[in-house]
Amino acid sequence: MKHQPPATSHQYNGVIERYRKYLPITEKTPIITLKEGNTPLIYAEFLSKSVGGNCEVYLKYEGLNPTGSFKDRGMTLAISKALEEGFNAIMCASTGNTSASAAAYAAKAGIKCIVLIPAGAIASGKLSQALIHGAQVLAVEGNFDDSLKLAIEITGKYPIRLVNSLNPFRIEGQKSASFEICDLLGSAPDFQVMPVGNAGNITAYWKGYKEYKEEGEINNLPKMIGFQAEGAAPIVKGHPIENPQTLATAIRIGNPASWKTALAARDESAGLIDMVSDDEIIEAYKLLASKEGIFAEPASAASIAGLLKLAKKNYFEPGKKIVCILTGHGLKDPDRVIATINKPKKVKPEIKSVLKEIGY
Ligand code: F0G
Repeated sequence: MKHQPPATSHQYNGVIERYRKYLPITEKTPIITLKEGNTPLIYAEFLSKSVGGNCEVYLKYEGLNPTGSFKDRGMTLAISKALEEGFNAIMCASTGNTSASAAAYAAKAGIKCIVLIPAGAIASGKLSQALIHGAQVLAVEGNFDDSLKLAIEITGKYPIRLVNSLNPFRIEGQKSASFEICDLLGSAPDFQVMPVGNAGNITAYWKGYKEYKEEGEINNLPKMIGFQAEGAAPIVKGHPIENPQTLATAIRIGNPASWKTALAARDESAGLIDMVSDDEIIEAYKLLASKEGIFAEPASAASIAGLLKLAKKNYFEPGKKIVCILTGHGLKDPDRVIATINKPKKVKPEIKSVLKEIGY
């Protein structure tokens, strides 16, 4: 592509360049990238000790993607392919992160982006992103499932490309995260724990692991473990939830589009999909920030809440490697912190008052 800096050994150029041979990219595909991917896999000392049995827990910190969530991995591909196919407009329904990512990549590509969000139900950081990148944001008086239905219908009739995870290129891009995990660990982990909302990401990770094994890059496959929020747990309960509720707004979804492939990931890997309560999510959210130094949004903390729930039941055999996916950055949803933690105490601008408060 024009205007790319010269490739040097120090320049990372995003998931398409890195994993091109595993992706449906041709010489004609214009590559739209914000250098997504290549996120750290962080050894979690406190969580490893909490799980016990010499298990090793690693955190895949997807909040460090360019727009602060894993969505960028799929969006680089979805937007690049939309351009190749001649579209000049894209649309998505979103609980926030997809819209932030779509808006940023559409801005980079110079095409129109329309997002449908459930009115009043997305975190302020995500809404700010969609707005500043110049997307046309429409707040639908309904929930995510209503918004997605509209997006599917409209993009089926008009020359606008749907960039929700029903777009197969989103899944193709997102599978790059499993490649990275395997490249860093030298094998697949024994278990992978992640939040599940619309179920695209669990689908993508499982596809990635299976392909890497077929290609001979790894010899093993992980057990895929997904967690939904208790008030928005259609897969666990076995039926759509009409009015899903959870403070983890990213996964407030009652009828996941990739339901079937999530079940396939669970069953083929002999894993499980379970749920955690909002209280468990908040506890894990605070613990992650205060013990591991990582600020992830509440939906991401669902994987940590799930990890701890399973550990309590002695689910993990000793010595296993467990990777938890932290899907989005904590700064996406600053209001949740303010609602959860005591506000700073006011002090007079004098040494005496400060010392008194800090106990010196
Ligand atoms: N974690 C975060 C931070 C998310 O934003 C999402 C989904 C998920 C987990 C669940 O991933 O849907 O692939 O199962 N967010 C979508 C959105 C729905 O519109 O941003 P999934």
